[in-house]
Amino acid sequence: MEHLHLTLSIFLSFLMGVMAKSTQYLPRMIFTDKDTAVKRLSLSGHHAPVKIIPQRHRDAVIAVGQQEVILYDFQKTPVEQTVLWHCGNTSAAERSQDCRITVFQEMNETDLVFVCVAADAATRCCQMNVSSASPSCTSPSKVKKIVDSMKSSVTAKVEPSILVESGDSSSLYVTRSGQENSGIYRFGEKVIKPSNQNKEQHFVGLMFNRRKDDPLQNKVYAFYKARNCENHPQSYTWTPFVTQVCMADVGGSKSKLQRKWTSQMNAKLFCGNADTKQSFSELVDVAVVQAARWQDTRVYGLFRNEWGMSAVCVYTIQDIDDVFKNSKFKGSTKAFPLDRKRECVEDSTKLPYETLDMIERTSEMEQWVQPRNKSGPILINLHHNYTHIHVDTSQHMMNSNQAVLFITLNNGAIHKVIHREGEVLVGAEYQVFTNHVHILSISLQTSCRRLVVASNSELVHLDVENCGKYGDSCDECVLAKDPYCSWDNNHCVPHTHEDVQNGTAVDFDICPLTVKTGKDDIVQRVTLPYGSRYFLQCPVTSRHAVYRWNHLNKNTNCSVQDQSCFLHIDHVGPKDAGTYTCESEELGYVKVRAKYDLWLESRAGTHRSGWLPWVGVVVLLVKSLFC
Ligand SMILES: *[C@@H]1O[C@H](CO)[C@@H](O)[C@H](O)[C@H]1NC(C)=O
Ligand SMILES: *[C@@H]1O[C@H](CO)[C@@H](O)[C@H](O)[C@H]1NC(C)=O
Ligand SMILES: *[C@@H]1O[C@H](CO)[C@@H](O)[C@H](O)[C@H]1NC(C)=O
Ligand SMILES: *[C@@H]1O[C@H](CO)[C@@H](O)[C@H](O)[C@H]1NC(C)=O
Ligand SMILES: *[C@@H]1O[C@H](CO)[C@@H](O)[C@H](O)[C@H]1NC(C)=O
Ligand SMILES: *[C@@H]1O[C@H](CO)[C@@H](O)[C@H](O)[C@H]1NC(C)=O
Ligand SMILES: *[C@@H]1O[C@H](CO)[C@@H](O)[C@H](O)[C@H]1NC(C)=O
Repeated sequence: MEHLHLTLSIFLSFLMGVMAKSTQYLPRMIFTDKDTAVKRLSLSGHHAPVKIIPQRHRDAVIAVGQQEVILYDFQKTPVEQTVLWHCGNTSAAERSQDCRITVFQEMNETDLVFVCVAADAATRCCQMNVSSASPSCTSPSKVKKIVDSMKSSVTAKVEPSILVESGDSSSLYVTRSGQENSGIYRFGEKVIKPSNQNKEQHFVGLMFNRRKDDPLQNKVYAFYKARNCENHPQSYTWTPFVTQVCMADVGGSKSKLQRKWTSQMNAKLFCGNADTKQSFSELVDVAVVQAARWQDTRVYGLFRNEWGMSAVCVYTIQDIDDVFKNSKFKGSTKAFPLDRKRECVEDSTKLPYETLDMIERTSEMEQWVQPRNKSGPILINLHHNYTHIHVDTSQHMMNSNQAVLFITLNNGAIHKVIHREGEVLVGAEYQVFTNHVHILSISLQTSCRRLVVASNSELVHLDVENCGKYGDSCDECVLAKDPYCSWDNNHCVPHTHEDVQNGTAVDFDICPLTVKTGKDDIVQRVTLPYGSRYFLQCPVTSRHAVYRWNHLNKNTNCSVQDQSCFLHIDHVGPKDAGTYTCESEELGYVKVRAKYDLWLESRAGTHRSGWLPWVGVVVLLVKSLFC
């Protein structure tokens, strides 16, 4: 009882803290198939893709399924599907049911990919040219060592991986999740495995941090959630972690940590608000935005809690690096054991036995990694469980000091989120799938700003550059704050890639003083019989705006239902005649959305003309209230 009570009160104070902010996290616009260009493809006969890779130079994607690799060419109508490769094409053993793709990695050179297939306790890897009509599986010297060292390593599914190519000694970093042997593996010339430990870990991301100034310090970072061992009723079952390894690491000496990481350090990630005790401890996904300065590289972590709420926190490599450089090791008495280095070393096999022993005993830091600027989550969704996060990593976006994120919901929708310094806006919700279809993967084709979304049964290709939908005035274009759009003196249009919308505040100053378009002033005349009922309708675009009706200088709020808001007039009488204006107001910008002139029918006249529109509108309203 005590526990329940405590949990409830924490939950309530959490809700209170979050409620005030939550309306800003409602999507500003809602887009369905009729609002944006969408192509849908049935996946019948094919496995659902677990990974989607946009092609750099054409409107096409490679979808990696469990047993096949398919190229979808969206330039063609109907969309052309080419099976590039199927498990069964390689060898007899792989024709078995057990055969599955475990690694699929784009290579440095255009068209080349590195792929691994596991079957019957063996793994076969090779290089493929996905541009050729029937790609063959080759293993040139560049990848030969990886191919050889991967042979006896079998993983169950596609996991995060990175291929680091450098002349003849390429290496593949790949994670393994689960209860046994989980951790980061390196294949290639120097094979390194994680130390044996029986912690359950699930990896969601892997990134490479290149140090041009000091290549010895090149590192790989991995993000994972670990299952909590302590079965404490109050602790949620997962803890989020970041871990790092040095790329120069070649393992310990013959007597200690041989071919095991000697440079690995782990730190817990915090996402929440320490003051209100809210925290999100299940790491779901990460997205990385590389920056020109390695320290500024940002990691967007998607988290959830036990109540099905989701949050996004941002970390910089600088913050992570600071913890690995300055924190005590967990359980260590000495703040800085002199013989334990925090930097990557030239030859890790030469580390003294005592150091290696210390490394083997603990690699966890005491200090947690806090979100950037010690801020709380940049985004919280109380009602929906977010499932994947993807970020636009095109060069011009990265240079513009802002980010466009795409976050999938477990009800089959996707949120487009704009993140700038100190500001987050859920710009749009794309209702891609209805009926709570589970989204398996998403990817953005940055060149044409199309999002490719996969479910179990469908591949959807949708336009996420919806500038024309924001409105026909400069102010409306600016209000959308969409880095993809700008005002060209006539329309809200997609930005050319160089001049991404920059401002941090809404800057109406860029908008010319224009004569109001005639559209605002179109007045619809409505004639109604005495005593009838009627609903006036006002179109809704931005859900962040307040809509109100004005009649005889009296304002009435208009509550939003679906794509409209209504004014309900009961028992029409003389007091109701006159002009009704529906206005929207957002950040001080006011616009007339609809105007009606209501007339009363003379008592002698027929009631018909008043009845017909009434019926239609009631049906609409009932639908929006109860569906
Ligand atoms: C891949 O195949 C295409 C078509 O056969 C060819 O033009 C291209 O040069 C090949 N690329 C590489 C890296 O071998
Ligand atoms: C792979 O095998 C299938 C049948 O198992 C065949 O239809 C397809 O053409 C083969 N593809 C290649 C690239 O050999
Ligand atoms: C691409 O290959 C070149 C030489 O083969 C290498 O110098 C470069 O680092 C590679 N790039 C990546 C991202 O691996
Ligand atoms: C959130 O969604 C995931 C994936 O659909 C599901 O496994 C999980 O149980 C959900 N969590 C809650 C609290 O609803
Ligand atoms: C966050 O920190 C960065 C660098 O530490 C600083 O430039 C930026 O202004 C800070 N942002 C906020 C919102 O405090
Ligand atoms: C964006 O801001 C930067 C720095 O303030 C400035 O140099 C650049 O010209 C701006 N770009 C545009 C398109 O306004
Ligand atoms: C109308 O909505 C505004 C903004 O949400 C609110 O401040 C105001 O109190 C509302 N007025 C009425 C009469 O409900």
